Amino acid sequence: MAKLAINGGDKLINRPLGKPWPIYDEREEKALLDVLHSGMWWRGGERLKGSESKVSAIEDAFAAYHQAKYGVAVTNGTVAIECALRAAGVEAGHEVIVPALTFVASATAIVMVNAVPIFADIDPKTFNLDPDAFEAAITPKTKAVVVVHNGGYPADMDRIIEIAKRHNVVVVEDCAHAHGSEWRGTRVGALSGLGTFSFQAFKPFTCGEGGMVITNNEKYAERAFSYHHIGRLPGRPFYEFHVLGSNLRMTEWQGAILLAQLTRLDEQIETRERNGKYLDEGLKQIEGVNPIARDPRVTRWGFYYRNFLYDQEAFGGVPRDTFIQAVRAEGAPIGAGAHGRPIYQNPVFLEMNFGETGCPIKCPLYGEPVDFTKVYCPQAEHASTNIALSIPHANFLGGTEDIELILEAIRKVRANIGELKSA
Ligand SMILES: Cc1ncc(COP(=O)(O)O)c(C=O)c1O
Repeated sequence: MAKLAINGGDKLINRPLGKPWPIYDEREEKALLDVLHSGMWWRGGERLKGSESKVSAIEDAFAAYHQAKYGVAVTNGTVAIECALRAAGVEAGHEVIVPALTFVASATAIVMVNAVPIFADIDPKTFNLDPDAFEAAITPKTKAVVVVHNGGYPADMDRIIEIAKRHNVVVVEDCAHAHGSEWRGTRVGALSGLGTFSFQAFKPFTCGEGGMVITNNEKYAERAFSYHHIGRLPGRPFYEFHVLGSNLRMTEWQGAILLAQLTRLDEQIETRERNGKYLDEGLKQIEGVNPIARDPRVTRWGFYYRNFLYDQEAFGGVPRDTFIQAVRAEGAPIGAGAHGRPIYQNPVFLEMNFGETGCPIKCPLYGEPVDFTKVYCPQAEHASTNIALSIPHANFLGGTEDIELILEAIRKVRANIGELKSA
């Protein structure tokens, strides 16, 4: 008789784990009603003081939370990257390096500002940009690098910043997964040039849709502000437009929700960290699944999902996806994170779906176009198909007994792996 649920055996976990997401209470209700009754549903044309606008207040508070001087709140994490790249001076003819294995927006945002994404391989032990691959990809056209802290686990920022400085490349940290994460005691985002965040509904800090650009550089902050405000300059007449820009302004509703959410963020990150470490310790005891070997410079891991690694050989050759299906059938919410496939394997790149003219990839300012069908990042391909495992953050907001259940599900599949081999 089969033991594994995927083969008809009893399912191990029959209740939800962690906490339903998003979490809210009367703080959010009051904040929304305050905005409603104020009649001020947007910030208006100026960057007001924090006490006068919820958007200004969350810009100040969230930038300060990430130890940055400046914040520009925007409508989502995708346009936050576009805004940061514009602020960094990226334009047609430039290349921007991006890790091959992350969410597609990290690369399509580069195309949206008329530059060419150059995919660099990842470190399969962390799923983050490999600093050597980054350096090897630099050319005279390289203007910036989008560094993604995959799953919130900080990339090797010591090496990345050192390489970027040496080659005069602006660092944009895509922190869409990394709210509250720290590298050597400093919060990610403003470690070098600019940082971007997503506050989309699934993210561990959310208002449904939203984003932010943060920086310590006044010039970048001013440019980001103008770009998100259709090219206006602070203090100038409302109908006077100085630079090319778009409308990426966050509403007061989003600002109000985020201010309320911020009152819980530290406690949530600490609970996730505690349970994340519990998971990692448990994984170490199970042959064939390994936590990310924690770099001591990662002093805080505020994660969107907790990444870990599958060793197919140790599981007698059972493919990673079969393992995921078997563990999920036991009721444990594991997946492969934002690792569906390397970005360049998406049709938008493979089929060069950049419109009739093919700009900016086919652009006289750029030169010989990149052939994305020829891009090959072996570690990204191997990790996305065979190694990457992850568990979403909300599962870590309950007690350790929930994590114990996830470990128990993995142990059960491990103990009955023969059932999967013969399948
Ligand atoms: C790494 C990364 N960058 C950017 C984004 C885009 O954020 P948004 O969905 O808010 O546009 C996401 C979204 O999941 C992401 O995972």
